[in-house]
Amino acid sequence: MKHLLSVSDLGADGIRELLDLSDTFVEVSGRSIPKVPALRGKTLAWLFYEDSTRTRLSFETAAKRLSADTMNFGVSSSSVNKGESLRDTVETISAMGVDGIVVRHGSAGVPWQLTRWTDAAIINAGDGWHEHPTQALLDCYTLRQHFDSLEGRHIAIVGDIKHSRVARSDLAAFSLLGAEVTLVAPQTLLPPSLEGWPAKISHDLDAVLPTVDAVYLLRMQRERMAEALVPTLREYTAGYGLTLDRCRLLGDQTIVMHPGPMNRGVEIAPEVADLERSVVIEQVANGVAVRMAVLYLLLGSGVDLTEGTR
Ligand code: NCD
Repeated sequence: MKHLLSVSDLGADGIRELLDLSDTFVEVSGRSIPKVPALRGKTLAWLFYEDSTRTRLSFETAAKRLSADTMNFGVSSSSVNKGESLRDTVETISAMGVDGIVVRHGSAGVPWQLTRWTDAAIINAGDGWHEHPTQALLDCYTLRQHFDSLEGRHIAIVGDIKHSRVARSDLAAFSLLGAEVTLVAPQTLLPPSLEGWPAKISHDLDAVLPTVDAVYLLRMQRERMAEALVPTLREYTAGYGLTLDRCRLLGDQTIVMHPGPMNRGVEIAPEVADLERSVVIEQVANGVAVRMAVLYLLLGSGVDLTEGTR
């Protein structure tokens, strides 16, 4: 595989292979010197046209642990502000010799477009409402840590499904691995058509909570909303927020997930975010190992991993 554009491209076997490979990088990350020379001599560039904390830092950490060189490109301090087009920007970066470009952009499809303008491997770090494949992979990894397998598990994805690339990639990955998914949201936060989505739909969070192994909460993505889709945030929280009271409906083993950034007090009550069953921090930690696996698979396969830089 040359690029990672969509999680569906991997298929169930590809996802499982990547998760198995991630185990190796969890081990590497636990070493006293968490670094292997797998990508020595390779250069990666970050092209983030949208804000990011965890995804960007996570890719950066992953690249460093694999000994890759990185080219830092801040859109807000670059010639993009002088009107340079995406194509010219990518061709310029390419001309300096990059092996991989990690891209986040507000428009769906941009990572696919990039593959036509450069020979570098393209990794999709989020394109508009469309896909966020590495988030889905780290979520599958986290679920596998808790349940061994996703086969037959029931996962609720709750909240602003309409604007969420995380929901789209997660739904694809979870169902490829055999989980059953229920999307829980008010009608206005669901896409206009759900044809072909391998999911059940519910508008009743309280009815769904007792039946799930994991509750996956989404942020209300106000920056993507042109109009008010919920009457008030308070009303949203009353119907769909995961409060401490609602947590009492959950089974003992049920975990609570969130891709971050969390809006405490909106989709998740502050106390719920800090419960033991909340695995948000595990998701972040796993993100580094999973992204190491992705970079290694695309750019470094064949390099011996048992040799550290001790
Ligand atoms: C998400 C994103 O940007 O798609 N965050 C992330 O990458 N962990 C979700 C969000 O912004 O709500």
